[in-house]
Amino acid sequence: MFTRKITCLSVLLATALLQACNNEAPPEAATATAPVAAAAPAVPGNAANVSGERLANADNEPGEWMSHGRTYGEQRFSPLDQINTSNVSQLGLAWYADLDTRRGQEATPLMVDGVIYVSTAWSKVKAFSAKSGEPLWSYDPQVDGQWAVNACCDVVNRGVAVWEGKVFVGTIDGRLIAIDANSGQELWDVNTIDKSQPYTITGAPRVVKGKVLIGNGGAELGVRGFVSAYDANTGEMAWRFYTVPGNPANGFENPILEMAAETWSGEWWKLGGGGTVWDSMSYDPGLDLLYIGVGNGSPWNHSFRSEGKGDNLFLSSIVALDPDDGSYVWHYQSTPGETWDHTATQQIIVADLDIEGTTRHVVMQAPKNGFFYVLDAATGELISAEKFTDVAWATHIDMASGRPVENPAARFNVTGENFLSTHNPNGAHTWHSMSFSPLTKLVYFPIHGTPFIYGAAKEYTTTAMATNLGTDFSGNAALDPQEVLAQTYGRLIAWDPVKQEEVWRVERAGPANGGALATAGGLVFQGTGSGQFTAMDATTGAELWSTHAQTGIIAAPMSYMLDGEQYVAILAGTGGSWAMIGGDSNMKGYALENESRLLVYKVGGTSQLPAPTSFTRPPMTPPAHTASDATIAIGAPAYETYCGTCHGAGVVGVGLLPDLRRTPYLHDADAFAQVVLGGALAPNGMASFASVLNQEQAQAVRAYIIMRANQDAPANQQ
Ligand code: HEC
Repeated sequence: MFTRKITCLSVLLATALLQACNNEAPPEAATATAPVAAAAPAVPGNAANVSGERLANADNEPGEWMSHGRTYGEQRFSPLDQINTSNVSQLGLAWYADLDTRRGQEATPLMVDGVIYVSTAWSKVKAFSAKSGEPLWSYDPQVDGQWAVNACCDVVNRGVAVWEGKVFVGTIDGRLIAIDANSGQELWDVNTIDKSQPYTITGAPRVVKGKVLIGNGGAELGVRGFVSAYDANTGEMAWRFYTVPGNPANGFENPILEMAAETWSGEWWKLGGGGTVWDSMSYDPGLDLLYIGVGNGSPWNHSFRSEGKGDNLFLSSIVALDPDDGSYVWHYQSTPGETWDHTATQQIIVADLDIEGTTRHVVMQAPKNGFFYVLDAATGELISAEKFTDVAWATHIDMASGRPVENPAARFNVTGENFLSTHNPNGAHTWHSMSFSPLTKLVYFPIHGTPFIYGAAKEYTTTAMATNLGTDFSGNAALDPQEVLAQTYGRLIAWDPVKQEEVWRVERAGPANGGALATAGGLVFQGTGSGQFTAMDATTGAELWSTHAQTGIIAAPMSYMLDGEQYVAILAGTGGSWAMIGGDSNMKGYALENESRLLVYKVGGTSQLPAPTSFTRPPMTPPAHTASDATIAIGAPAYETYCGTCHGAGVVGVGLLPDLRRTPYLHDADAFAQVVLGGALAPNGMASFASVLNQEQAQAVRAYIIMRANQDAPANQQ
């Protein structure tokens, strides 16, 4: 992996270093110095005039992509067939747009009436002419860079919503913002979170009947999950549904939470409980039901969270709500008493399936726990559930009770023994979008796995500015790294949701790849972590087209039609949870720097990407390691607690953020302190840790990094 070139290795005077050590790449700034909305050629009036009727009848406008999953039921299927199996090989770049950030890009662009609306890392929003790529406006919510420390998995954003001339975005620091779709000017900006808690927003808003729905994340750091609805015109909150109960002594917000509280033990409310709604929502206009996907527990370890007792509703569940008032209708919990970060925030698809001779109206989900669920959309009744890949935590789902039959060894928190899982906390499938083709009746989605050891921490106390999991991963050190790499996989699968079996698979170089798009042209598109954007035959999986995107792709493609021509668009730019955590298995198949761009293709497109930027990694030339064992004993745990989540566990640089073994700041204690304690780079997402580390501890961290760099330098001389 390569870190960006640092141009000032010889400048070691503290302040000069801080100013001169900018990368050659555009500076990574959360806060732009330019005006918030850069004025540009106006959108030709009446932009994004999307109504509930248009959204509910999205199939009448197959050329548009008006909401996150194209339809309210989030099938992510494009009915366009101009690009098809016979001409996809002639696909070329129609246009591209460079983005002004180099963090992970996870958004699906929308296209409405000739304009593309897309969000980028740092919750920025941009509008482009869908035909020419001409930038129309850009909006920067000016996120507080210090807040980035609350984001477990990069400062990503998965998309915007549009409604009656407005564009909505949730921000990493917890705001929901409405922007004028014509001008890019901000219309309203509301805080959706308790700012004393480490909430973040990375998911796309959805709009149902004039209400903007938004959830949040933060269950790695200790929050209580909820989803809220805001009036699209005014930004006034209409309702809020908490996914886990609060302190019973304060009274319950509604009777269903009183019921949920019976599934919890201890004083979970002091720990947050988790259950954040950080990604998936879908809506069924016929049933008038909103489905939300609920995340993992906080802390992860069930024993610390709830004394090891109870199902802990509504963690790891799909919950159906009334979109008018947020009242509960039904739920299905896929991992009762979850303890492995088994979120059920993964995409929820509403569809009709022919099952045993009858048409069933269903919701489908492939959550992290590795089972593919088909539920009745009206009642939540479990219709079927089977493993979509090897998973070790449960053998099968008992259809009578609807509950998993667990492998007793999986409950590391109960046995006190390490548990060797088939997947790490990214699960067997996470947020990467899936696509259901009503033509092939298959669901296409990316899956992954890697051997990973879960162990229970001996004790649990909440630590500020750090993840709070109650789990111990040190057992992983005992695994043979070559064996782990050999068993780490990523693949795209085509799944038959009726037969509950895999139809075809395509192996990828590593675990982190983009979402899928199926089209009526008989194609499935996917980008990969190793930088390919590919099209496959939807029936066989045979690759029919591939192009090099110069950077890893984790986002999902979409397609639109304009003036008689079909386009396929995708956001490229590596990042997200794999890139942040790093390590050889997470980074398998990732070999490229982040080169954030919107790429748009059409048959016969002739545009060319510029020559790839050359990234030079700074040499690994640390100062001599002279620190005492006592210092390292302070520095090593402090690094792993506060730094490893972004700069890589064990100080193994991961490419997205600076490789600290190579940073010139190792040579200058004062400059290092200005960054780590003084917040000199806080606007760029490198928080000040002054509230949790003192000077002595910060320098012990530096000593530990120096020690690690000296250990690794002989093999990394360049
Ligand atoms: C939430 C993510 C995050 C965490 C946690 C984090 N950092 Fe950073 N760090 C960053 C980012 C982002 C940058 C790059 C900032 C920029 O581009 O200017 C950075 C840059 C740095 C740099 C400058 C490196 C260079 O060569 O430019 C140092 C030194 C540093 N971090 C040390 C630390 C230490 C020590 C800790 C733990 C106490 C830590 N970081 C924790 C995100 C993080």
